[in-house]
Amino acid sequence: MIKRIQDAIPKKRTIILRLDLNIPFSNGKSADISRIKKVKNTVLFLVKNLNKVIILSHFGRPDGKVNKDLSLINLMGYLQKVLNLKIKFLPSLEIEMHKKKIDSAPFPSVFLLENVRFSKLEESNDPTFSRKLASLGDIYCNDAFSVSHRAHASTQGITKYLPSFAGFLIQDELKALSMALEHPAKPVAALIGGSKISTKIDILNNLSDKIDYLIIGGAMANTFLKAQGYEIGVSLIEPKMIKNAEKIISSLKSKKCELVLPFDIVCAHALDDIADRRTFSVNNCPKARMILDVGPLTCKKIINVIDKSKTFIWNGPMGAFEIRPFDQGTNIIAKYVAKRTIEKKLISIAGGGDTVSALKVSGSVPKFSYVSTAGGAFLEWLEGKSLPGVESLKL
Ligand code: 3PG
Repeated sequence: MIKRIQDAIPKKRTIILRLDLNIPFSNGKSADISRIKKVKNTVLFLVKNLNKVIILSHFGRPDGKVNKDLSLINLMGYLQKVLNLKIKFLPSLEIEMHKKKIDSAPFPSVFLLENVRFSKLEESNDPTFSRKLASLGDIYCNDAFSVSHRAHASTQGITKYLPSFAGFLIQDELKALSMALEHPAKPVAALIGGSKISTKIDILNNLSDKIDYLIIGGAMANTFLKAQGYEIGVSLIEPKMIKNAEKIISSLKSKKCELVLPFDIVCAHALDDIADRRTFSVNNCPKARMILDVGPLTCKKIINVIDKSKTFIWNGPMGAFEIRPFDQGTNIIAKYVAKRTIEKKLISIAGGGDTVSALKVSGSVPKFSYVSTAGGAFLEWLEGKSLPGVESLKL
């Protein structure tokens, strides 16, 4: 069982709060600050209870070097605006020096420490660094589910030196994920899309034991179609993964999990050849064309699966969703999942960077039961791996 921050009843304590402020950021602006919005409850809870809060986070992958483009000072504006709080920035990782400032600050106060990945000791999970970070406070709270698949000093090492608890966002994420796979309403369908089987093979193997329908979309489906003997023209494919696709197809037959692959396909001669797109049966993919989306019959079949399902897990887009109109399949399915969710006929859980961008186009994100803030951590969870940052918060 996870230890929850509300059970620690922290009052007038100094809390080290690990967040994931790793948001998309370019030219001084972010296109998506949902990770900041989602930690508001935890920060405000701690401040309301008169604690000092020291926020730790990484930002990008600076590789143990100071990089001013990846300084967390860049995010201070967003953070203060969303939280509606005054925050003091601690502009380096000189921990001993900051400790004096923190100790002499009044209750409540909020500090943001510089990007922990400016030290190479963060990613190597160095115990000295973990202990130094821990020395800044008396309670540790992790509310960074999306980086909890990393065993780093600020996500895992630090928990050895302080009583450690989960923030509200981690609690929400875990509740949603367990609703999807550990104690789901059955039948369960999963749509796994995206371009590469090689990055999703562990997910497919793990899910196939637990779900009733496995829908494969995106360019990944091409490798499966090839494994079934279909011609796929000049479509994107991973030739080395054909054997793995064959294995998955035959293992699904022995489990009670129905595999759903495209049976009509939207093709063009090139990715940007929008005007030239045409729909074919999967038996008739022309030699010079590539598959870029699923067709209407496949959407109809998937809708039928959704109607039969009570839980729907989604990771990865259906087609080349970045280029309209090859986002049609993704949008049709997303809207239908959203509709069934609103009607309370379906529990829908989605996660992964591309997935969320793809769902946003159809306006479906707020209608899903839960959309995870995590990319890599969501994938590792779908693979059935335990996440070190979460494990270390257990009783
Ligand atoms: C993410 O954006 O998925 C997390 O912040 C983890 O980032 P990382 O892959 O650089 O560890």
